Amino acid sequence: MCGIVGYIGTQAATDILISGLERLEYRGYDSAGVATVEEGQVNCVKAKGKLLKLREKLEHVVSKAQIGIGHTRWATHGKPEEHNAHPHLNSARTLAVVQNGIIENYLELKEELISNGVEFISETDTEVIPHLISQFLANSTSLLEAVQQTIAKLEGAFAIAVVSADHPYELIVARQQAPLVLGFGQGEFFCASDMTAILPHTRTILTLDNEEIAKLTPLGVEIYNFAGDRVSRFPRTLDWNPVQVEKQGFRHYMLKEIYEQPAVVRICLDNYLNPNWHADEDPDYSPINLGLSPNLTDNLEHIQILACGTSWHAALVGKYLLEQVADIPTTVDYASEFRYSPKPIIANTLTVGVTQSGETADTIAALESERARRANLEPKRQAKLIGITNRPESTIAQIVDRVIDTHAGIEIGVAATKTFIAQVMGFYFLALDLAYRRKTISNSKIGEIIAGLRHIPSQIETILDTQADAIEELAHDFTTETEDFIFIGRGINFPIALEGALKLKEISYIHAEAYPAGEMKHGPIALLDNKVPVVAVAMPGSVYEKVISNAQEAKARDARLIGVTTAMNATEAAHTFDDVLTVPEVDELISPVLAVIPLQMLSYHIAAIKGLDVDQPRNLAKSVTVE
Ligand code: F6R
Repeated sequence: MCGIVGYIGTQAATDILISGLERLEYRGYDSAGVATVEEGQVNCVKAKGKLLKLREKLEHVVSKAQIGIGHTRWATHGKPEEHNAHPHLNSARTLAVVQNGIIENYLELKEELISNGVEFISETDTEVIPHLISQFLANSTSLLEAVQQTIAKLEGAFAIAVVSADHPYELIVARQQAPLVLGFGQGEFFCASDMTAILPHTRTILTLDNEEIAKLTPLGVEIYNFAGDRVSRFPRTLDWNPVQVEKQGFRHYMLKEIYEQPAVVRICLDNYLNPNWHADEDPDYSPINLGLSPNLTDNLEHIQILACGTSWHAALVGKYLLEQVADIPTTVDYASEFRYSPKPIIANTLTVGVTQSGETADTIAALESERARRANLEPKRQAKLIGITNRPESTIAQIVDRVIDTHAGIEIGVAATKTFIAQVMGFYFLALDLAYRRKTISNSKIGEIIAGLRHIPSQIETILDTQADAIEELAHDFTTETEDFIFIGRGINFPIALEGALKLKEISYIHAEAYPAGEMKHGPIALLDNKVPVVAVAMPGSVYEKVISNAQEAKARDARLIGVTTAMNATEAAHTFDDVLTVPEVDELISPVLAVIPLQMLSYHIAAIKGLDVDQPRNLAKSVTVE
């Protein structure tokens, strides 16, 4: 989605803005621009396409400006053309605005402005903002006040940053539902849609709350709510390391992030497993440290999980675990569907929002509406909300009662890999915590599952060490003529088939579908012939034989069969599959976290061999902050 960066201080603003925008590239964009204020003028430069184009244009511009705003645009209203790129200016070109979000009532505002003689240059919703501010400034000397008056007229979810030639020492920012953080340096201040943009300059940050507006000057930051009251807030210091945001020798961020997965699982295990727990000891000493209070976990009759995309797949693995291990009926909904057709209210429901970014507009809205619709009900029908997120400072944390931090570190590749594994780990911990509290499985069974979880990091390392070359070689077979793929799986590994298909489509642009293996013969099998490879996730366990039979049915239709299975099964599997991707021996309950790794790598290599933009696939955004 769109990215915003703003700077005011003592350094040359343009360089800081461009390097900030580069760090936001991963969010996805199709054009970019910057506006700076210098010698009583707003200087605005924009370009369609990658930041390189903007850089080229800026090469000939000498600027000493110490204040400015920058933007990467992911088109919503109006094509990705230069005239639609941000910043947008008022008619007198004295003030510039960048926006992330959607102004829902812009047509109405635009008509009003046009009837007052304003001429529009773009088709965007954003352009109404500088014109409105400009009108309000005609009767006010305060930029802050004019922005406040403008915001009062805007409907929708948005974050904005504003600079003005007539107020050269002020950067005004505001937030309504879309993310915005402020950074505090020595005599310099920053704003950005995501803290990664400002991490090289400062780790002292403050996340603006909804309906807050801030005035940044070289002397400090003042924050107000939309009602105009001054708000006191304290910034906090991040423990993030800017090096985490580098590729560290890997060709792509996605590959680096695939290789970081063993470390991510280790961090999750260290954070959430109680090291001193023993299956045969103190019954009141929980094996899991999620910090969930009894009012969130006691008497649960139902769990509902809300998520989008890959997080929705992690939620499906979670459903399997919560039902089979903790014995709690669990539903999983797309947040984008749930928000407009919520399920009938069930008493004693725990609602779990899953979002790596913590900012996905649909997930946030679904959670907010769930809290609102249960607010005035009897206590057992009221909302109990938890969030599973990789960004504990994000918007989701402000809505839920408790956050499970997935500790995966910043993920730059648009295709989620390590955050998926970390979300699934979050569900193991949640299911085990609830199983322990509800006594749905024995302590020794809990001990066995935990022992299995502890093996995951080294098992992923084994896959990465032993399979990487074979997977890369296999990938070559699908880079020129293959147009469709089918993925099949069953039980706890059906979500892995879904995730394998999603990874392939989003980065290689090859059409891929996933089905529960037993559903193939109810329709999709008609698609199969020797041009459509089938990937079967065939992990030993309760449904292994069934998946193998379904795979045989595909083979009988001439499909090339690729199997993901364990090393011990590989010889037997060689009779069924044309190609076998092996993972170490593992219990079925733990198998999804291993089975997904070869699928991530297969997608990665197919896309990389095709020479595609693996980290920033076309049309996609890392953080989907608009509906
Ligand atoms: C796929 C992917 C997306 C996200 C989805 C939700 O690789 O990354 O499908 O999973 O946009 O994002 P979050 O988890 O931030 O809510």
